[in-house]
Amino acid sequence: MSRRILVTSALPYANGQIHIGHLVEYIQTDIWVRFMRMQGHEVYYVGADDTHGTPVMLRAEKEGITPKQLIDRVWLEHKRDFDSFGISFDNYYSTDSDENRVLSEQIYLALQAEGLIEARDIEQAYDPVKEMFLPDRFIKGECPKCGAKDQYGDSCEVCGSTYLPTELINPYSVVSGATPVRKTSTHYFFKLSDPRCEQFLRRWVAGLAQPEAANKMKEWLGNGDEADGGSTLADWDISRDAPYFGFEIPGAPGKYFYVWLDAPVGYYASFKNLCEQKGLNFEEWVKPGTNTEQFHFIGKDILYFHTLFWPAMLEFSGHRTPTNVFAHGFLTVDGQKMSKSRGTFITAQSFIDSGLNPEWLRYYIGAKLNSTMEDIDLNLDDFVARVNSDLVGKYVNIASRAAGFLLKRFEGRISPAAMSLPLLVELRAAAPQIASLFEAREYGKALRHVMELADTVNGYVDTVKPWDLAKDPANAAALHEACSVCLEAFRLLTLYLKPVLPGTAEAVERFLNIAPLTWLDVASPLSEAHPVAAYKHLMTRVEGKQIEAMLAANRDSLQAAPPAAAADAKGKAAAAARTAAVPAADVGDGFISIDDFAKIDLRIARIVDCQPVVGSDKLLQLTLDVGEEKTRNVFSGIKSAYAPEQLVGKLTVMVANLAPRKMKFGLSEGMVLAASAKDEKAEPGIYILEPNSGAKPGMRVK
Ligand code: MSP
Ligand code: ZN
Repeated sequence: MSRRILVTSALPYANGQIHIGHLVEYIQTDIWVRFMRMQGHEVYYVGADDTHGTPVMLRAEKEGITPKQLIDRVWLEHKRDFDSFGISFDNYYSTDSDENRVLSEQIYLALQAEGLIEARDIEQAYDPVKEMFLPDRFIKGECPKCGAKDQYGDSCEVCGSTYLPTELINPYSVVSGATPVRKTSTHYFFKLSDPRCEQFLRRWVAGLAQPEAANKMKEWLGNGDEADGGSTLADWDISRDAPYFGFEIPGAPGKYFYVWLDAPVGYYASFKNLCEQKGLNFEEWVKPGTNTEQFHFIGKDILYFHTLFWPAMLEFSGHRTPTNVFAHGFLTVDGQKMSKSRGTFITAQSFIDSGLNPEWLRYYIGAKLNSTMEDIDLNLDDFVARVNSDLVGKYVNIASRAAGFLLKRFEGRISPAAMSLPLLVELRAAAPQIASLFEAREYGKALRHVMELADTVNGYVDTVKPWDLAKDPANAAALHEACSVCLEAFRLLTLYLKPVLPGTAEAVERFLNIAPLTWLDVASPLSEAHPVAAYKHLMTRVEGKQIEAMLAANRDSLQAAPPAAAADAKGKAAAAARTAAVPAADVGDGFISIDDFAKIDLRIARIVDCQPVVGSDKLLQLTLDVGEEKTRNVFSGIKSAYAPEQLVGKLTVMVANLAPRKMKFGLSEGMVLAASAKDEKAEPGIYILEPNSGAKPGMRVK
């Protein structure tokens, strides 16, 4: 029976590039979607960029463009990457769309009508310089447990402890460096602690496909025992104060939906937009009691949002709830977290630019995936070995061994009699098992099974030895049979691999001169009436040097324009657990930390003496009092702008901890600060800095 299925992958943030970790998810989803389509089901696969929130707002500001300009540019980059990797979205949209605004408002108002929205005043960290409330990830300081510096406001990367941002020692705003102050503001909450929500979620959790996910949920929900505190669910803060890039909340000027409120609604918005294009009835898919199915593929770090908030939002706003949520683990490269310095923070684009075939990655990731939330590792040596041995050595080899003889000796026509040979019967009989493995997301097992079949076929070729048969015309019938068996076997293997290798399958369909393969075609062998076309090589081997080039490109991009870092899973999970998660903070690139700045010891200095330097037309020799026992001697290239007597007695600012430098004229023990135009030739003039009155020699400038 044909099923009606809506499938989504998590919406990537619009402040960074698609990397190989993201691709795990999109490849996993795409394999499933393609498999389900091959089964003849009505499947819609939708995605979108997740555009709202503080990181996008700040990044745009830093680049000197509007958030809209930023998200438009990133959308094109993301779309390009997904197309490159054959991710077959039926619609790729944006959360910053009219559909999403309308749906988010509707859902919010419905929850409000149910009595599940509550306004409450809360005190929060506020950046008094930037004049904005600070999400946890934008506050850093010293870990209250181990004292490590520069730790985020929610968890310590050194000792692993989690805490509240208020517990940080010497906290500072990552945005301006200012010390955050506490400030009160009204926030809107989704009352997840309401008994109705808890009861609903307890029922809903029973339907989760993954036992680990169900266990996590039970942990979050608690055991319901009043003595143990009953439900542990806290109300969810769904509003943010201006300035914020997002949707303003109806009836609450200056308040915006928190990005995680409108992000999952973005699934529906993308689908609604698709329905408009295709003339589908959107309501039929999203109302309760429908015969349609809805699946969300996500990473384990965002389980909380998809198994608690999202189903509850849907349930209490009069929508159907997800049929299931499938969570996967995290990708490591060579056993370690992806790292920019090692070049293993591999962007989708760098993979393509290095001439690597995206189908290689689809195959490798597919071969590693199963239905659990376990992490998976991309081992680069294993990647090369596996792709070369499985895809080139075992699979493609079958076609290349048979195609030439069939074309040269038999006009490319197969022998119909050969189509019922036991080997082919065996290959066809494997279809149901491979299908159930794909459907259960046990791709690794499915692909292992397919490769075992390929081994069997290669064993057959080694036994019948077509190249020997070809030597004697008396063996023509046997040769014809052997080549025909090979190509039909190759057709079947291609069919089984098609969800994983769509591009290769398309090339094979052209070569075999057949219609696009569906799962039903297992039972429709090649026919004599469709001679195969000239064989073109279907896939090359991976070269180690391509991998090297890719790693180098990713190391280089570190210096050029590093992509926004995704927040690590631990940080996200910790934040989510307090129901106040914030999206990945992109604060690293192009900036220095406050600690980097603090390394520079800037001091007020009095120029107690100033002399021309004999033999130099650029330098003046300054004697500076910086509140120390001894004065400092500094040579400064400001002679063109000042006569020595103009400077004596003035206060200025110096870098006091610059390593002393031996010059032709003596030792220089620091540097005074002066302003000048970018192009000094076009606009001459040097201006030393002078503090406002009251500053004293030796004072720290910070
Ligand atoms: N914008 C949110 C999702 C909103 S869905 C309504 C988000 N974006 S993300 O860009 O950080 O991540 C997108 C998806 O990629 C998530 O499911 C995440 O788990 C996944 N991955 C990101 N890095 C990953 C790895 N290193 N490995 C595997 N998956 C990873 O979260
Ligand atoms: Zn610590």
